Amino acid sequence: MIEEEIVEYYRLLYLRGQTTLLSGNISARLGDLVVITPTSAPKPLLRPSDLVYIDLDGRVVKGERAPSSEWRMHVAIYRRRPDVAAVVHTHAVLPTVLAERIEADLLLESESYLGGGIAVVPPIKPGTWELAEAVAEALAKSNVAIMKKHGVVAVGPSLAEAVNRAEVVNDLALATLARIWLGGGP
Ligand code: 13P
Repeated sequence: MIEEEIVEYYRLLYLRGQTTLLSGNISARLGDLVVITPTSAPKPLLRPSDLVYIDLDGRVVKGERAPSSEWRMHVAIYRRRPDVAAVVHTHAVLPTVLAERIEADLLLESESYLGGGIAVVPPIKPGTWELAEAVAEALAKSNVAIMKKHGVVAVGPSLAEAVNRAEVVNDLALATLARIWLGGGP
């Protein structure tokens, strides 16, 4: 069940240091709806029944809680990319600070996992339509975007692939940092 996957994958991302207790959000497409994590909750402790169901205009269809404050970004991506089944937003620190320095081909298999390059979005106020549109535009031709001073957004045809892409971006950031430390070696 996709709801169980969302809460489990969220926990894994938290345990890997990709989010803080309250940051980040995950959603998945469910027919005409989107199932998304609630806002301002300790996300690694969520249960499937805490998730919120919204339509592509952001109207809450089912759920006890308010949806993620980034619901605009999630629906803007689903509207723009019919092939996308899941959206993962982390607050991974290294990709965020190294944004423009990361080369997607630094690790041989990364590009094939990412299915393209890494887009970079300038700093824009979180939760706004302006950010949502900028990210959706950046993801028109990429499966991952780094929002400067904010975090990572990864999409995929499944939740597992979206999560993996967020992890690959983090690995690339680690490799980039190692290369900087080592003096720009091969
Ligand atoms: P939410 O708790 O509203 O999803 O916000 C977390 C976050 O990371 C905002 O960018």
